[in-house]
Amino acid sequence: MWFLPAIATLSFAAGGLAQSFPETIQTDGLVQNGTRWQTRLRVDNGTYGPEIEEVHYYQDQWPIGIAVASDGRIFTTYTRGTDEYTLGVVVNETAEEPYPSSALNLKPDQLNTTWHGIPFGVSSSSFISVQAVYITSETSTRPETLWALDTGRPTVHNAQGDPSMPYAQPGGPKLVAISLANDTIYQSFSFPANVHFPDSYFNDLRFDLRANVSGTSGQGIAYLVDSSNEGRPGFIMIDLGTGESWRRLTQDQSVLRGPQDVASYQGHPLYIRQKGQAIGWQPEGLDGIQLSTDGETMYYSPLSQKILYSIPSANLRERDTNPLAEINAHANVSSHGTRGGDANGFEGDTSGLIYQLMPTHNAIFVFDPKDGQTHGFVRDPRIVWPDGASIGADGYIYMNINQLPYQPDWNNGTDLRVYPGAILRCKLPNNGTKVTSLYT
Ligand SMILES: *[C@@H]1O[C@H](CO)[C@@H](O)[C@H](O)[C@H]1NC(C)=O
Ligand SMILES: *[C@@H]1O[C@H](CO)[C@@H](O)[C@H](O)[C@H]1NC(C)=O
Ligand SMILES: *[C@@H]1O[C@H](CO)[C@@H](O)[C@H](O)[C@H]1NC(C)=O
Ligand SMILES: *[C@@H]1O[C@H](CO)[C@@H](O)[C@H](O)[C@H]1NC(C)=O
Ligand SMILES: *[C@@H]1O[C@H](CO)[C@@H](O)[C@H](O)[C@H]1NC(C)=O
Ligand SMILES: *[C@@H]1O[C@H](CO)[C@@H](O)[C@H](O)[C@H]1NC(C)=O
Ligand SMILES: *[C@@H]1O[C@H](CO)[C@@H](O)[C@H](O)[C@H]1NC(C)=O
Ligand SMILES: *[C@@H]1O[C@H](CO)[C@@H](O)[C@H](O)[C@H]1NC(C)=O
Ligand SMILES: *[C@@H]1O[C@H](CO)[C@@H](O)[C@H](O)[C@H]1NC(C)=O
Repeated sequence: MWFLPAIATLSFAAGGLAQSFPETIQTDGLVQNGTRWQTRLRVDNGTYGPEIEEVHYYQDQWPIGIAVASDGRIFTTYTRGTDEYTLGVVVNETAEEPYPSSALNLKPDQLNTTWHGIPFGVSSSSFISVQAVYITSETSTRPETLWALDTGRPTVHNAQGDPSMPYAQPGGPKLVAISLANDTIYQSFSFPANVHFPDSYFNDLRFDLRANVSGTSGQGIAYLVDSSNEGRPGFIMIDLGTGESWRRLTQDQSVLRGPQDVASYQGHPLYIRQKGQAIGWQPEGLDGIQLSTDGETMYYSPLSQKILYSIPSANLRERDTNPLAEINAHANVSSHGTRGGDANGFEGDTSGLIYQLMPTHNAIFVFDPKDGQTHGFVRDPRIVWPDGASIGADGYIYMNINQLPYQPDWNNGTDLRVYPGAILRCKLPNNGTKVTSLYT
């Protein structure tokens, strides 16, 4: 294993990097089947909170999003890539299959097209690259529904292996409703060019399906995340009755990437090393979101900031017909302060707790609105980048583990991930369970 003995060995070659710097994040400290060391000293054993259970092992595709249905089925997403499919369902401890069918998942060679030399994601009714999924329970007007959010933007690699992300083509980015009662798509929403930009990137989704939600036509609303690495992140809302969509908080300070953010994973700092590009910083803005149990407050955070924000959801529902909609939204953002690290996906339970996945700490933290503070909830060395989480009707939080900091696109083309990836779960505190109050 590479080791840097002393600062004095550092040297800079003209026009390039000194040989002694590795070109990737380091992997020492990551062990498989390791044994414990013996010492009389107090040690941080890397563990706290409820017992972590290993639920599923990924053997051939690295997962991103996860959603657990009331009947126990687990749905997962994989961003493309060369992966064979992008939306899947777990079938046993070591295998997943395309969902709802193989035909609805585009094949890898059909993912992008070029126009005047510029790559675009293809426009299609099939899935291009599903980033996130979320399940709403049965309501008086809808079956239990798996909502799939397709970015329309696969990652493609040129002959040198340099990655790029094609722009979205109208129709490619879409929100798709699949009935879990009959495994059939029953609704699909697309977005106009002034709402979803070619460089937008859908990252997460939440729902309020109550008929009386202000500013809606009465069939509910979806709150979507545009995390745009290119720099125009913000919220996108869609009225599920009319299909109209609009943006809010675009490029607000609270949704932007943090300044030159370098986070540490397993104790090693990570700069982003994209093959064919200069070394840089994590460029991702708005990532995790979660509605309060009464639907009135939206909690959120960019991936590369350490601050938890919230806004009254009414400000997100305000339409452009109110000329002050954006000014009022900006004025109503609250900062709950820093929390001790970068967070990605969020979840929420019936106790009102806001769970925040903390890849920098191999942990899940929890914000308690009752005391205004973020607390440690669970930490375990097996939590090597928790990417998405989903609370089941069984009172467990399930999380996807995908070793993301070790992916080739962040490490100059070298894949340092080691199969299997995993689904882990643990029991929620105080008998907390999935929130259903917004699905009536
Ligand atoms: C990536 O690897 C190539 C080939 O090994 C090397 O020339 C280049 O300097 C590396 N780039 C970075 C950003 O480390
Ligand atoms: C760890 O143990 C598993 C199961 O016994 C085995 O398949 C795997 O090769 C081991 N990995 C290493 C790095 O020793
Ligand atoms: C870590 O230490 C705590 C006590 O501080 C203990 O409850 C827990 O079981 C330990 N975990 C492991 C994996 O040894
Ligand atoms: C899991 O499912 C896969 C795909 O259907 C199958 O090939 C494999 O044999 C199954 N494994 C077990 C342990 O049942
Ligand atoms: C997809 O993008 C890659 C990389 O830019 C390019 O080589 C390939 O030709 C594109 N595919 C199509 C069908 O245009
Ligand atoms: C599946 O369920 C949806 C939503 O309830 C319904 O609109 C659709 O007709 C059903 N499709 C089939 C094939 O049963
Ligand atoms: C909205 O409807 C829900 C039930 O769907 C009800 O619990 C709530 O009190 C209603 N809110 C208002 C402001 O009427
Ligand atoms: C801020 O949100 C509160 C609660 O929804 C609302 O009463 C108030 O009018 C909002 N302020 C602005 C400036 O929008
Ligand atoms: C959780 O539920 C169990 C069974 O209903 C009950 O015995 C226990 O007191 C509950 N715990 C809390 C913290 O509410």
